[in-house]
Amino acid sequence: MTNQTIAFVLGTRPEIIKCAPVIRECDRRNVPYEIIHTGQHYSDELDRVFFEQLQLPVPECNLEIGSGTHGKQTGEMIVEIEKALTDGDPDVLLVQGDTNSVLAGGIAASKLSEVAVGHIEAGLRSYDRNMPEETNRRVVDHVSDYLFAPTDDAQQNLLEEDIPKARIEVTGNTIVDAVRQNVGIAREQSDILEQLNLDSEFALLTAHRAENVDTKDRFTALLEGVSQVSKECGFDVVYPIHPRAEKRMNEFDIEVPSEVHLIEPLDFLDFLLLEDQATIVLTDSGGVQEETCILQTPCVTLRDNTERPETVAVGANRVVGVQPDQIRNGVTKMLEEPTDWKNPFGDGTAAEQIVSTVINDER
Ligand code: UD1
Ligand code: UDP
Repeated sequence: MTNQTIAFVLGTRPEIIKCAPVIRECDRRNVPYEIIHTGQHYSDELDRVFFEQLQLPVPECNLEIGSGTHGKQTGEMIVEIEKALTDGDPDVLLVQGDTNSVLAGGIAASKLSEVAVGHIEAGLRSYDRNMPEETNRRVVDHVSDYLFAPTDDAQQNLLEEDIPKARIEVTGNTIVDAVRQNVGIAREQSDILEQLNLDSEFALLTAHRAENVDTKDRFTALLEGVSQVSKECGFDVVYPIHPRAEKRMNEFDIEVPSEVHLIEPLDFLDFLLLEDQATIVLTDSGGVQEETCILQTPCVTLRDNTERPETVAVGANRVVGVQPDQIRNGVTKMLEEPTDWKNPFGDGTAAEQIVSTVINDER
């Protein structure tokens, strides 16, 4: 039995979902841990719903930092995470992904010599420094003691930045664990298809990235492209809208094409079922590119690049940008291709591997 204690710093929807298998693995093996929630996401539909559905304990420590500019949000998080880590005195801090919460957790822990930092989903690179997430993931990789890379390509990115191989372990992505643990339950329990009256083919849309929704022209072009796809292919589009996108849509006074059905953000089981059953998924989300690849659903990525090139290499995804003709073209091509690609993100044992490494090794 280990003496290592683990802390998780997390703050947003994707971190809760992708840390869930690791937290549950700690529970299964009686490994002591604490969850420090930064409060970056605080609306119930981006936060509480996932703790409940994924059977995670409510974090005892919620820093309630909330929204703000990058500097304010990240700076306040660093101050409060440092206090929480000093009080809790864990041996290892685990962070997952590339948000400001992850950046703040990584920086705060790396300055405390007694706390090792483990980065889950290390080594992803879009090579686009305009994305705040690219800065976050690079910095955290370089202050981490354990780098849990999802794929060999991610490991290679780290080696090319002179990160020592001894720190890196290729585990697969914990999202495979999460999808496998939940898709059967979603198929049995979710009635979202009935709720939305989806009895024929449909497309699922998510768009929330700053580089898409914070610019009126890009957001409008994206919606126009999706609307043209809908008219051309004859299927409805369902768009569970992220609060950031909704706020911008209102600010920019964007008229949503009638083919695009806006709904509230969904819980994980309902969303998984839509991803599983959709004819095609259009997205700018990182996690959604992975999940569709795991579920054998074709994906078109509404961005100029991706840090998940494995999805493109196996034939599960096309990266098309936001211009309407490119979106239409991308959808047409994806719908012509077979969907029997191989999942590149591992065998669903990432959480097991991560916990084993952390508790058996003292760095
Ligand atoms: C953040 C991450 C992004 C990730 C996304 C997951 C950073 C820099 N960005 O983006 O990488 O893909 O989470 O969903 O860390 N808001 C609410 N309720 C909430 C949270 C936010 O209404 O619970 C609204 C606020 O108006 C806020 C805006 O959304 O200003 C943006 O929130 P923020 O946390 O800054 O970034 P996200 O766009 O959520
Ligand atoms: N998701 C969800 N409900 C929704 C939209 C997304 O549960 O309405 C889940 C999705 O299954 C994935 C994660 O949220 O696991 C992706 O989060 P998001 O797109 O916000 O962030 P990103 O992955 O781009 O950082």
